[in-house]
Amino acid sequence: MYKRTHTCGELDESSVGSQVQLNGWVNTSRLHGKIVFVDLRDRYGKTQLVFDETDFFEVFEKIKKLSTEDVISISGTVKNRDEGAINPNMKTGKIEISVSDFSILNKASTLPFVLTDRNSSEEPLRLKYRYLELRFDELQNNIFIRHNTYQAVRKYLSDNDFLEVETPILMKSTPEGARDFLVPSRVHKGKFYALPQSPQIYKQILMVSGYDRYFQIVKCFRDEDLRADRQPEFTQIDIEMSFVDEEDIFTYMENLTRYIFKTVKDIKLSDPFPRMTYADAMEKYGSDKPDIRYEMELIDVKSFTDESDFKAFSDAGSVKALLVKTGAKYSRKVIDDLTDKAKKYGAKGLAWMKFQDGNFNGGISKFFSESLQKNISDKLKVENDDILLLVGDDKNIVTKSLGKLRTIIASKENLANENEFKPLWVTEFPMFDFDDENNRYVAMHHPFTAPRKSDIDKLDSDPKRALSRGYDLTMNGHEIAGGSIRIHSPEVQEKVFSLLGLTQKEAVDKFGFLVEALRYGAPPHGGIAFGFDRLVMLLAGTENIRDVIAFPKTTSATSLMDDSPSNVDNQQLRDLGLEIKKD
Ligand code: AMO
Repeated sequence: MYKRTHTCGELDESSVGSQVQLNGWVNTSRLHGKIVFVDLRDRYGKTQLVFDETDFFEVFEKIKKLSTEDVISISGTVKNRDEGAINPNMKTGKIEISVSDFSILNKASTLPFVLTDRNSSEEPLRLKYRYLELRFDELQNNIFIRHNTYQAVRKYLSDNDFLEVETPILMKSTPEGARDFLVPSRVHKGKFYALPQSPQIYKQILMVSGYDRYFQIVKCFRDEDLRADRQPEFTQIDIEMSFVDEEDIFTYMENLTRYIFKTVKDIKLSDPFPRMTYADAMEKYGSDKPDIRYEMELIDVKSFTDESDFKAFSDAGSVKALLVKTGAKYSRKVIDDLTDKAKKYGAKGLAWMKFQDGNFNGGISKFFSESLQKNISDKLKVENDDILLLVGDDKNIVTKSLGKLRTIIASKENLANENEFKPLWVTEFPMFDFDDENNRYVAMHHPFTAPRKSDIDKLDSDPKRALSRGYDLTMNGHEIAGGSIRIHSPEVQEKVFSLLGLTQKEAVDKFGFLVEALRYGAPPHGGIAFGFDRLVMLLAGTENIRDVIAFPKTTSATSLMDDSPSNVDNQQLRDLGLEIKKD
């Protein structure tokens, strides 16, 4: 092997005449009479090689047989390309290497898919051969963006006195909302570690220890249903600060986010980031992570439907509508499809009426008198070729189903400008959600989130209405970070545990060490964690979290490349005191 003197993305006219050595992969190879042209590739770029039969008489057959992804090493001279062969779009597009000697470092077998078109094969096959998929420019670019994001985060936080501290991966099971991944202990048979859902408790304890600004770029593990922007193991930028309130956190985190976008993608984000309460976000957009790149708010139309002869909505607690511009083009099939989607979120159906030639028609329009129709079109500024989609039901169902339709329609109609990045803080979350199925409160953020000072009394009188000091940072419809000011009083913490249905004993067993730590001089503190992968998704312009993780899991939490999870042998199970029950 020749030691490379240059990478494949580096050489240009300034090197013409020099002797160089390159290593890389055969990207393409083509025979032209007595000459073989090879595009040699590495992660820096491609360089054209020229093998002339007259220089390689005996081994020319071998050169002719070079195939895609063979790994070779060459030595040669940099030459100007012929005028007609110049590629102005490539850094190396004006030169080529006249090869004087080469060696084949490794032949590649026939590939399971072509490496020129990522869409030519299904994702499972690409994930099985992830090392080949990672050779695509698109993924290399994403991994590069990810790298730059790590560096920007570390630079900003370190420059602002945040200390990077690692916390354990094997920890006590202290569920935070999702199911834990458990790790059996060999030494303590029958006992288990859990993999952290987040380092939440450790970072709070670090505050008690006096490390008043902490961060960590850290793997978190959650055994939960997966989606396009969720993985069972994912990365957070985990942050905690002492002696702060919400404003301090917002200032630092906005500066961090602006710094990342500017450094990694030269994108300028707004200053300050806008804010919206949870209640407003749900009311206006039916989502706690609204994409505010487009309007299409949920409109309260209860007063109109009450005035109409459409009786199906008379008893509904709430009736809201989406006014879809140019939606009158929707066929019956499209509307049926949207109806099915709304039903998924609990709606009984989706009512509609189109506005054409100055009147509503179709759907439920016949139940609305002419003057009522006029009133609606005037007040809602309905225009020709719009469609009004309505859901009437409990408020919760109305907001959730229309909120979902809003994003589905926006993507169908390309309403969001993909070059725009719109951050939004969502604040004033309720402390608790009520889980009807299990008849108990669950923490909306996590059990360590402080109630608003003015709402502490509500913990006793009306927990449902108590608001928290939690906040999320959203961008373009994604929740990119979530955090809160924490409870630093042991009494309030115990109260919240009891509201969450933990007995005194359970609270001590699970979280006793935290409550105890709070008794030894815990400073007021708060923090946040960014979903690092989601941040990189936005920076890389992809909607698929797997595109920004080198070795991701599928939506059923498997790794197709190394085939995990997998069986283990019986001896390993015996060592751990485990037995697999066959049912
Ligand atoms: P939270 O649970 O909101 O907060 O998580 C913080 C951020 O992590 C990202 N995220 C995920 N990304 C990919 N796959 C997942 N399965 C996944 N789950 C969450 C989201 C989310 O906003 N300890 C608290 C933070 C704190 O209070 O400081 C926590 O983990 O972008």
